[in-house]
Amino acid sequence: NGKIKVGLMGFGTVGTGVVRLVDSYKEDFFNQTGSVIEVSRILVRNPEKERSVFVNSDIVTTDPRELIYDQEVEVIIEVMGGIEPARTYILEAIEQGKHIVTANKDLMAIHGEELIKKAREHGCDLFYEASVAGGIPIINAIVEGFSSDRITKIMGIVNGTTNYILTKMSHEQASFDEVLQEAQQLGYAEADPTSDVEGLDAARKMAILSSLGFHVGMNLEDVSVRGISKVTLEDIKYGEQLGYTMKLIGIAKKDDELIEVSVEPTFVKNTHPLANVNGVFNAVYVYGEAVGETMFYGPGAGELPTATAVLSDLVTVVKNIKLGVNGRNMATPYNVKKLKREED
Ligand code: NAP
Ligand code: HSE
Repeated sequence: NGKIKVGLMGFGTVGTGVVRLVDSYKEDFFNQTGSVIEVSRILVRNPEKERSVFVNSDIVTTDPRELIYDQEVEVIIEVMGGIEPARTYILEAIEQGKHIVTANKDLMAIHGEELIKKAREHGCDLFYEASVAGGIPIINAIVEGFSSDRITKIMGIVNGTTNYILTKMSHEQASFDEVLQEAQQLGYAEADPTSDVEGLDAARKMAILSSLGFHVGMNLEDVSVRGISKVTLEDIKYGEQLGYTMKLIGIAKKDDELIEVSVEPTFVKNTHPLANVNGVFNAVYVYGEAVGETMFYGPGAGELPTATAVLSDLVTVVKNIKLGVNGRNMATPYNVKKLKREED
């Protein structure tokens, strides 16, 4: 009947945005896909919690089987976060033939290959645009837009929480702890914000981008990481006196011999565009051998920006269902070579 039923796992910051946009943009999605998208089941931990968007309480459950084994549900959107039970639920859902959209970088940076392999085996789509740089469609750009080029470097600010903290410390002399709390209240930070402040969230994103950009299997342990927890206001002010701004920068570089991926607090010259990426905004430079330098900029976290990334994947899945194809635009290289580490 042209209706696509979706099971939503997680109804926090991102899940709320998904429900809001599915409702507000119903007609737009119909015009693009010829289908009405309906969130027909929502998995939560605490069904009593007050939500900021209305849904019929009948569709809210704490039992994942009500989504995974519902024959009418064709797509699962996973926005719970964390490795387990998200990994197990996704694997089970794929076994039931469900297409998957996820925003989970923790999971994709570590188990991405396993999940994508499983999805291929079962003829399912698995997309994860929202896992990197919130509302910036950077995965799609790298996988689709740069497929005709050789990417040599990917560099930028890929964590909204730390950029928000560094900006507020610099512009308002605010204390680290105070701004971190604000970022949590605004829904930017991870459930455990240590991932943000210690650079792990950015490292996971750089692992994903470098895997896709360089066609190698990069894992979190291949990325050298330093976060901003030890950065003081004095450090920031000292840099500013010399004309520099402190940013948490991710860099992935590839030449004939070597791939290097790192995340670390870096003084960026004030005249460089990255120095002027403020608040929750992210920016990613992608350098292609043929195209040269390109830059992508936009909100890197938050309810609606992240929900747009999730829903762009959902629209692709729905189009694929209509076309009777799967894996189209699936964001992973077909011949993933394992990166040879120096000690191997
Ligand atoms: P969140 O606000 O903490 O929401 C998590 C939701 O998942 C909550 O509704 C929670 O239920 C539910 N949940 C968690 N564990 C569960 C379990 N074991 N069983 C059932 N339900 C469970 O998280 P979020 O900020 O929306 O982030 C979700 C995902 O998106 C994460 O992977 C995150 O890294 C990613 N992401 C977030 C952003 C952002 O700006 N926030 C941006 C990009 C990507 P209750 O509500 O009942 O507690
Ligand atoms: N905690 C993440 C950030 C959410 O601040 O960038 C978006 O991935």
